Amino acid sequence: MSMLNKFGCWIDERFPMTKVWNEHLAEYYAPKNFNFWYFMGSLGMLVLVMQILTGVWLAMSYKPDADLAFGSVEFIMRDVEWGWLIRYMHSTGASAFFVVIYLHMFRGLMYGSYRKPRELLWIIGVIIYLAMMATAFFGYLLPWGQMSYWGAQVIVNLFSAVPFVGEELGVWIRGDYVISDATLNRFFALHFLLPFILAALVFVHIVALHKVGSNNPDGIEIKENKDENGIPKDGIPFHPYYSVKDIAGVAGFLFIFAAIMFYAPEMGGYFIEHPNFEPANPLKTPEHIAPVWYFTPFYAILRAVPSIAGSAFPGVIAMFASILIFFFLPWLDKSPVKSIRYKGGLYKVLLWLFVLDFIMLGYLGVKPTTDLYKLMAQIGTTYYFLFFLLMPIYSKMDKTKPVPERVTK
Ligand code: HEM
Repeated sequence: MSMLNKFGCWIDERFPMTKVWNEHLAEYYAPKNFNFWYFMGSLGMLVLVMQILTGVWLAMSYKPDADLAFGSVEFIMRDVEWGWLIRYMHSTGASAFFVVIYLHMFRGLMYGSYRKPRELLWIIGVIIYLAMMATAFFGYLLPWGQMSYWGAQVIVNLFSAVPFVGEELGVWIRGDYVISDATLNRFFALHFLLPFILAALVFVHIVALHKVGSNNPDGIEIKENKDENGIPKDGIPFHPYYSVKDIAGVAGFLFIFAAIMFYAPEMGGYFIEHPNFEPANPLKTPEHIAPVWYFTPFYAILRAVPSIAGSAFPGVIAMFASILIFFFLPWLDKSPVKSIRYKGGLYKVLLWLFVLDFIMLGYLGVKPTTDLYKLMAQIGTTYYFLFFLLMPIYSKMDKTKPVPERVTK
């Protein structure tokens, strides 16, 4: 026995290293027909690790103090060695995270990955998504630019629209009557904490995934068709097949990510908004306040719903409902098949319209409201909710195709 083997045995007697490696990698059988869409989970993990590492390094020079925060970010950009790179990796990384996770969720919608037995896996995913949104929201205040300040002001004020307790709730969140140094301090603390909670949630997400096994583009349960050794006939060991394939995905992703980070880190104001190059000024409201692109579809929904008696509460409810409705998806879809490949034309058309609707709402959320834009946002919001609420009906009506017994390509 070599020294290395002996060391391995020594560990195995004290910790289930080989057992975990086999159960979750070398002998974890994943469907053989994974496609492009199955890269997104591992890319999400990559970006999460990158955000944590760059975030911790940024925190070494950042100052969570209303008088110093803006200057400390400028200091990182100009004076800290490679500080500009770390900061741009983190700010571009935030947008990349949402791109990857939106594609990951869209894959779920295409292939019915939320359906039985993956309901809990999906629910954990939605909790992850909520935690991501909270993390990004807290993080955006930290550079203490004009949009950081006023964006946070608008969003925290939404909580003040809650009847009876709203005012107190707003003060409780801010720690003050307006966004202030106290708010910046607590947002920094929460922004530091949440990514570690996210990492724990991702761990639970993977545990749930490995309990039920991966879905695939055909929506066929490979565990239902095993050979004499109990190995799924349409499964291949995750390692080396998918570990190597995922590395190819990582290479492709890093290529695009680096190109954007080096050549367009602000992405024309979509990743870092222009007013954020000015320090926060509580006495000067920017002409137009809009959140970063990944929040704008929900912001458009918020603004589309009319206030009642001057209270924005109905809009706030609609905005939260538009996110929370994802929790119910596993029970709204009544189709006899999982994957879009075997669903009928109706679902295909409605799903693509939903994607266009989401993009349109995202665009409208960036723009100042005009009568036309408001009407478009109201139509978009109505379609958004109908897509979910009518799903029990249209998913039953849709003409499905027979599902093959074994996975195809
Ligand atoms: C930090 C964010 C996330 C990370 C790192 C992550 C990671 C992963 C990984 C590694 C996989 C297995 C590989 C793959 O199928 O792509 C996976 C599968 C899955 N994830 Fe996530 N995930 C995240 C967020 C989400 C969200 C927000 C949802 C849904 C709301 C979700 C729902 C699912 C589902 C349903 C599967 C199984 C898909 C299938 O087997 O077809 N995940 N996730």
